[in-house]
Amino acid sequence: MITFVDAEAKTRRTAGVIPLHGEAGFAGMRKAGRLTAEALDVLVDAVRPGVTTAALDRLAYAFARDNNAIPATLFYKGYRHSICTSINHVVCHGIPDERPLRDGDIVNIDLTLIVEGWYGDSSRMFAVGEISRKAERLIDVTYAALEAGIAAAKPGNTTGDIGAAIQTLAETERTSVVRDFVGHGVGQLFHDEPNIMHFGVPGTGVPLKPGMIFTIEPMINLGRPHVKILPDGWTAVTRDRTLSAQAEHSIGITETGNEIFTLSPKGLFNPLAARR
Ligand code: MF3
Ligand code: CO
Ligand code: CO
Repeated sequence: MITFVDAEAKTRRTAGVIPLHGEAGFAGMRKAGRLTAEALDVLVDAVRPGVTTAALDRLAYAFARDNNAIPATLFYKGYRHSICTSINHVVCHGIPDERPLRDGDIVNIDLTLIVEGWYGDSSRMFAVGEISRKAERLIDVTYAALEAGIAAAKPGNTTGDIGAAIQTLAETERTSVVRDFVGHGVGQLFHDEPNIMHFGVPGTGVPLKPGMIFTIEPMINLGRPHVKILPDGWTAVTRDRTLSAQAEHSIGITETGNEIFTLSPKGLFNPLAARR
């Protein structure tokens, strides 16, 4: 059973209850999404060989503090950092540490900033120095997959149409879609209804309605889709150790399509494309 509720109604969010946001929600998400994107833009300049992911984490924390925002992952379910840094075969939820980035690494940085109670959630791929052609291709496919998903995010379609668009694009390019992590409703909660799967069957799932706000965040692997979690309890890696990439936007469904809240003011959402 799916029920839609006014996001401002103080209804408890149980499974199957999908909040529909009004202008206040869209305004809140615009602000939070923009600040998150600005923080990621700052990180584009900072990512280079020799920099540690812990240093990037400190940079993100300082940016948040200086802009009256709170990193949503800080103390979230025991997580102790402002960003996730997922390098090479790490699929997602990589933990910042003191190991320096190396020439040829690809790294996803995922940041969620809370601004006046609204959560802007976004991630991008960063290339460290010169990367391989296969890494570059994977990153291009990942951004194209996210774009295909966003293009399908409109009234009249369903969540399954988003997943199918992403899966078709990824598999046509002989890459695979990770099944174990999904996009999610976002707003005044970090993870809300509905789940947005990055694979699926057209026409199935939840009908998309104006006012729905959620992330799309496909994780795409060069090899097989299977992942395992390392003993730290967070880091997800590809089982076959092939490269993995991810890109994430927070979007809202409008009457005619969607609004992307986490666009880069500097045009650096795909930093690799920006420097070609
Ligand atoms: N930002 C991630 C997402 O896209 C969630 C990270 S939770 C953490 O949903 F605890 F791993 F940081
Ligand atoms: Co997310
Ligand atoms: Co995220």
